[in-house]
Amino acid sequence: MDMKKFSFTPLQIAVHLYAWSAIAFLIFDFATGNLSPNPIQDLEQRTGRHALTLLVLSLLCTPLNTLFKWKEPLKRRRTLGLYAFMYAVIHVIIFADLDFGLAWSGLMREVIQKPRLVVGTIAFILLIPLAITSFDVWKKRLKKNWKRLHQVVYFIAPLVVLHYLWSKKGDALSLQGEVLKPLTYGLVVAVFLILRIPPIRRAVSSLSTRMLTLLPKRSQQPKTGTP
Ligand code: HEM
Repeated sequence: MDMKKFSFTPLQIAVHLYAWSAIAFLIFDFATGNLSPNPIQDLEQRTGRHALTLLVLSLLCTPLNTLFKWKEPLKRRRTLGLYAFMYAVIHVIIFADLDFGLAWSGLMREVIQKPRLVVGTIAFILLIPLAITSFDVWKKRLKKNWKRLHQVVYFIAPLVVLHYLWSKKGDALSLQGEVLKPLTYGLVVAVFLILRIPPIRRAVSSLSTRMLTLLPKRSQQPKTGTP
């Protein structure tokens, strides 16, 4: 038996555990009666937030590689992205089924009337082709276009942040109300976007290469005996 097939790296285990943790907590809170007084809203908010967090974590993989020359996160990007999509699907199903009982005309009217839902819907529709084409067969088939298509995620993430911000009461300019969390997500996404600008990416990469080559040299220096 090939044992390699069954061995997981710590990062792989962490990714899977973290991804499933939201469902585990939901089941636990449901079983112990600890969902909020508005359980449908609670389910919607928790699945939505987890989908966004997983999406942001999938965007973190490239900067981790650029900064620390750590290759493994690049291999976990697809899993994180697919988990993000899975939670987005659950989030949308809760909205369509539990909130609207699959009454499509009422649901469409609600979405069209609320810009924050329009933005969420656009983000969701754009996520679908990314999830479908995330597999190697599509990577081979689409060649250069695969990378171009998957760069759409850098448009989707700010859309989801906007959808989140818009669903909270408060004022983003004066930082009043419940806007701090969505704005923090927004800041993180903005940093990832800035790190993608080619000259900035090159500068960060060469700086980190220099820093990383200094590290072993320092540890090789002879001890002088002075404290
Ligand atoms: C058809 C598409 C979508 C619909 C109809 C929808 C619907 C909703 C609704 C109704 C809420 C408000 C819940 C409340 O506070 O009462 C919400 C919040 C949220 N949604 Fe969506 N959503 C959609 C797509 C997405 C996608 C694709 C994501 C993430 C990838 C997402 C992430 C979020 C987040 C983070 C929140 C805020 C959670 C919180 O308040 O803590 N949504 N969504």
